[in-house]
Amino acid sequence: MIFHERELIHKELLTQKNKNRSIGLVPTMGALHQGHLTLVARALRENDVVVVSIFVNPTQFDNTRDLDKYPRTLVEDTKLLNKFEGTILIFAPEPRELYSGKVRAKRYRFGGLEHQMEGKYRKGHFNGVGTVLNLLFRAIEPHKAYFGEKDFQQLQIVKKLVAIEKLPVKIIGCKIVREPHGLAMSSRNKRLTPAQFKEASFIYETLLEARRRFPTHSIAHVQFWVEERFRNNKTLRLEYFEIANVKNLRTAIRKRKGNTYRAFIAVFAGEVRLIDNIALN
Ligand code: PAF
Repeated sequence: MIFHERELIHKELLTQKNKNRSIGLVPTMGALHQGHLTLVARALRENDVVVVSIFVNPTQFDNTRDLDKYPRTLVEDTKLLNKFEGTILIFAPEPRELYSGKVRAKRYRFGGLEHQMEGKYRKGHFNGVGTVLNLLFRAIEPHKAYFGEKDFQQLQIVKKLVAIEKLPVKIIGCKIVREPHGLAMSSRNKRLTPAQFKEASFIYETLLEARRRFPTHSIAHVQFWVEERFRNNKTLRLEYFEIANVKNLRTAIRKRKGNTYRAFIAVFAGEVRLIDNIALN
């Protein structure tokens, strides 16, 4: 069943909640792939009713060309979701409907998380993400909401958002789903040429080698090695590679005992921006 209006889905969910049914939410921007479908499958296992929101959120794009080019495939997405057994409600509102008028981001402070990596390179991005998720959480009032670890920084920010807005929802992070050659699944992969798609396995190969080197080499060495490797790649342009402390996502300069680190990467293949990350210890 597909809903375009907040009031109508809210009414339907109220009926479900009155029957004591639990609600899971999988927020997406559509162009669904196996990564999303894995989240939906898990949400269906853990809830009676699953809402999949499909909404390309204008306020989280710092680049209008990227927003215009973002794939919109509601008909195909609906067909994919209809293949599941279980109760799935699709929520696909227009921007003015979800935002109740002015499509504008609220300003958030996520304890500094918003200034790291994606926050540095995509100005205002996390205000947009926080705003739209706050609206979705309030419209749906889910018990649980599911997010992929490909957007690991986003996942940490969503946990902060829920605390800031005092929302009674449990945030569940799910493992990255990859193409057979290693590229992390993403809606943006649809925009890659076959040659770019093939070459993009280089990103995960780099992360795996960075993880292999991490225990025996300094952070500076791993950083230099990655940057050097990309300098010689004609298809992919490195935007950033960072090793960060998982607790605060601050760039790590030196390894410290007892800390947990993760490597984060953003790469351009032509105009298409791809991100990925990996646990290092
Ligand atoms: O990860 C995404 O697809 C988006 O950032 C999200 C969480 C659906 C918010 O628009």
